[in-house]
Amino acid sequence: MADELSLVCSAEQDWCDMMVAAFEAEQPDIDVLMVRKSTGETLAQIRAEAGNPKIDVWWGGTGDPHLIAAEEGLTQPSGADTSELLGWARNMADISDGRAIGIYAGALGIAYNTEILADRNIAPPQCWADLEDPRFVGEIQVANPNSSGTAYTELATFVQLFGEDEAMVKLAAIGQNVNSYTKSGSAPSKAAARGETGVSIGFMHDMVTLAAQGFPLAIVAPCEGTGYEVGAVSIIEGARNFDAAQAWVEFALRADVQSRAPEVGAFQVPSNANAQVAPESPDLASIKLIDYDFATYGSSETRERLLARWDAEVGDPNPQ
Ligand code: G6P
Repeated sequence: MADELSLVCSAEQDWCDMMVAAFEAEQPDIDVLMVRKSTGETLAQIRAEAGNPKIDVWWGGTGDPHLIAAEEGLTQPSGADTSELLGWARNMADISDGRAIGIYAGALGIAYNTEILADRNIAPPQCWADLEDPRFVGEIQVANPNSSGTAYTELATFVQLFGEDEAMVKLAAIGQNVNSYTKSGSAPSKAAARGETGVSIGFMHDMVTLAAQGFPLAIVAPCEGTGYEVGAVSIIEGARNFDAAQAWVEFALRADVQSRAPEVGAFQVPSNANAQVAPESPDLASIKLIDYDFATYGSSETRERLLARWDAEVGDPNPQ
């Protein structure tokens, strides 16, 4: 009988599917049962199942909720070799005592549908502050930070750029222009690509994927500077299939495996120093990045406080 590996994937569906197929091809004795779930939703599931986990391994999704799971004792060290990884990926392992390891990085940005803004005669945004302008009323889509790691990265980025009180004021002002808060972080840019919204906030690499498919999306690195994610992989505490989970982590950290991501349009920067970086990947060195404080924004106390303030001061009038 084949071993089973229960995997939650918080990256894009196409990449999740490719990774599972490639892993199963190498490990014919392991059957992977995979579901795609947003990062915040996965953290909620892991918390709810503490002590009796249904998931063995969590691959992908923004690093902060992985660090929070580690801090809450919901994940365990994999023992994987991190010597080939870049500093920002090893940093996740250092903060979490080896429980979360970085697999990719990507910067947050703004996208707009060039045809929609031109048709409506709306000047494109260049800065986060532009999104507060009434010219964007009903035109902006962004995810909900309770469910989406992308949107939590945005919330933490605003707090780091502007301070906590001012961040809430700015996010509430942008909220006046938001037409919908989605569950998943990449949904707003897909909607902007299809012309269902004029502007989206999300990860630049997801926007690049859509622009490369021919959609009329322009991508903006906001003038004030921006935050970034370090996507992570974690093994759940009490995993029923620890050996298979460990095999998955080692597989996911390999240079040859990470180099295949662009085949399915995943343009994050890979964490293995020997992996190939796709020419399409946003060049993080040329973007004004903040020195994102993962230890602080990846702690339970900070996330709970910021989400409570977001719910009270920004809020989603029509939760999905
Ligand atoms: C997309 C991005 C990933 C990111 C993930 C977070 O899949 O490509 O880089 O980690 O979104 O998803 P979430 O739905 O939690 O915002």
